[in-house]
Formats: sequence, C-alpha cells, structure tokens
Amino acid sequence: HLLHGRNMDFGIFLGWNTNNNTWVVTEELKPLTVNLDFQRNNKTVFKASSFAGYVGMLTGFKPGLFSLTLNERFSINGGYLGVLEWIMGKKDAMWIGFITRSVLENSTSYEEAKNILTKTKILAPAYFILGGNQSGEGCVITRDRKKSLDVYELDPKQGRWYVVETNYDRWKNPFFLDDRRTAAQMCLNRITRENISFATLYDVLSTKPVLNKLTAFTTLIDVTKGQYEAYLRDCPDPCIGW
Ligand SMILES: *[C@@H]1O[C@H](CO)[C@@H](O)[C@H](O)[C@H]1NC(C)=O
Ligand SMILES: *[C@@H]1O[C@H](CO)[C@@H](O)[C@H](O)[C@H]1NC(C)=O
Ligand SMILES: *[C@@H]1O[C@H](CO)[C@@H](O)[C@H](O)[C@H]1NC(C)=O
Ligand SMILES: *[C@@H]1O[C@H](CO)[C@@H](O)[C@H](O)[C@H]1NC(C)=O
Ligand SMILES: *[C@@H]1O[C@H](CO)[C@@H](O)[C@H](O)[C@H]1NC(C)=O
Repeated sequence: HLLHGRNMDFGIFLGWNTNNNTWVVTEELKPLTVNLDFQRNNKTVFKASSFAGYVGMLTGFKPGLFSLTLNERFSINGGYLGVLEWIMGKKDAMWIGFITRSVLENSTSYEEAKNILTKTKILAPAYFILGGNQSGEGCVITRDRKKSLDVYELDPKQGRWYVVETNYDRWKNPFFLDDRRTAAQMCLNRITRENISFATLYDVLSTKPVLNKLTAFTTLIDVTKGQYEAYLRDCPDPCIGW
C-alpha cells in the first residue's frame, strides 16, 4: 500500500529577501499554490498541486491508479539544449511539465504511465517518480532527453520498501553541500515500514534539510484510498537555503 510524498522546492538563485531570510521567488509562489481537480463529465480524472498560471503538472495523481511527481535533473546535456532545438524547429520532444500532464490526463495504468515516461523524448533531463496501486509498484525513472538511464523500483520482498529522489542520480553521491538524500533515508529507516503513514511521512518531509528555504509546499498522496493533502511550508531559522 503505497504512500507518495513530495516537497516542492523552487526558486534558487532568483533573489533573496534579506528582511526575513527567504527566497524571493519561493515566497511569491506560495500564495499561488492551488489544489486542482481535473474533471471530465463531472468525474475526477486527476488531481494535482500546482502554481496558478502554470500549465504543466509537476505533482499529481489519478485516484485508484497512480501518482506522479517530477524532479528537476541537472546535466551538462541540459534543458537549454533541448529548448534550443525546439526553437530551431525540431519539435519531436515534449516539455517535461507537459508530458506529466498528458500522462495524468490520458494514461489509465501504472504500466502505461511508466512506459510513456521511460520512452518519450523530452526537452530536458528529469526524474519521474511514479507510484501505483499494487504492492511493489513504485519507481524513480532517471531520464536524459532521449532515453531512460535507470528505472529504480520498489522491491518489498528484498526489503526495499521505499525509494528516495532528491535531484541526484542514485548511483552518484549527492553534492556535499546538498545531501537531503541521507537525511531522508535516516528518517525512513528509523520510522520503519510498519509505521509509515501520512503523519510520519510528513515528519520526514519536515526534517531539515529535506525541508529548506526553497520548499513551497509538501504533498502527501495515498493512491489506493484516493487521499491527498497539501501544505504550504516555511522553514524557520536556523534553516539552510536549499
Ligand atoms: C518574507 O518577506 C517577503 C518580502 O517582504 C514576503 O513576501 C514573505 O511573505 C515573507 N515570508 C515569510 C515566511 O515571512
Ligand atoms: C455537473 O455538476 C454540476 C454541479 O453539480 C451540475 O450543475 C451539472 O449539471 C453537471 N453536469 C453534467 C454534465 O452532469
Ligand atoms: C489527452 O488525449 C486527448 C485525446 O487524444 C487529447 O485531445 C488531449 O490533448 C490529451 N491531453 C494532453 C494533456 O495531452
Ligand atoms: C489498479 O490499477 C489497474 C490498472 O493498472 C486497474 O485495472 C485496477 O482496477 C486498479 N485497482 C484498484 C483497486 O483500483
Ligand atoms: C511503531 O510505532 C509504535 C507506536 O509509536 C511503536 O510502539 C513501535 O515501536 C514502532 N515500531 C518500530 C519498529 O519502530
């Protein structure tokens, strides 16, 4: 029974408020945070947390079927190259925030979503974090623009009851000034599988530096039960900037 948690961090290097130690853009985004319920014929197709005005989807789920979040991935062969190709007229790749929207709207199973997210050409590298409704359905897909580099799946029988993604390839160490991964893993290991819940998952996502000055909101998703909660976040000092 999968729970999917995410912190939405955004706004690094785009200005700092010296009056209260916050990022300018992160603070501007918080009041724009909305929970969305996309319907067709009055029936929910998918739900999402987003920023009003942004047409892509970075955090969402289809009740009963799957959950999907997108993480930024930094790479030399980066998004600006993809966007450049797109401007020059090579339009065979998708905007990453729009492929997630398209999957949330149109895919009808975990397997179908996984297949599309693994194979479709995209404009920028990314991590797709996907959860399903069956035991063991949960993975982190590491993407470059053309192909999938790695699909890291839950494997509860082997004791891998969670997967964590904090904007670094799992086979590399995180940047030493930004090790949110070890913090998250320590928390999860301490909580243990039997005690994971919305409350304990929220605790993990409230632990610094998993929570930091870039965190605009926290979302908790239970695909099977169709439950979903989102919280605006502040990170009181002392708190790291990222
Ligand atoms: C910090 O200050 C900025 C600019 O004055 C304001 O927009 C923002 O809401 C403040 N944030 C917090 C957490 O106090
Ligand atoms: C959708 O729901 C609204 C409000 O309950 C209702 O007024 C409307 O007739 C419904 N539309 C359809 C197509 O069922
Ligand atoms: C979902 O599929 C429909 C029908 O093919 C299409 O019109 C729509 O644009 C798709 N949605 C997205 C977000 O791509
Ligand atoms: C789980 O997802 C599959 C599609 O992958 C769907 O057929 C099935 O009904 C779902 N199970 C539940 C309990 O919703
Ligand atoms: C799970 O939580 C209960 C209640 O707080 C506690 O008694 C138990 O020791 C915890 N289990 C583990 C393995 O930490």
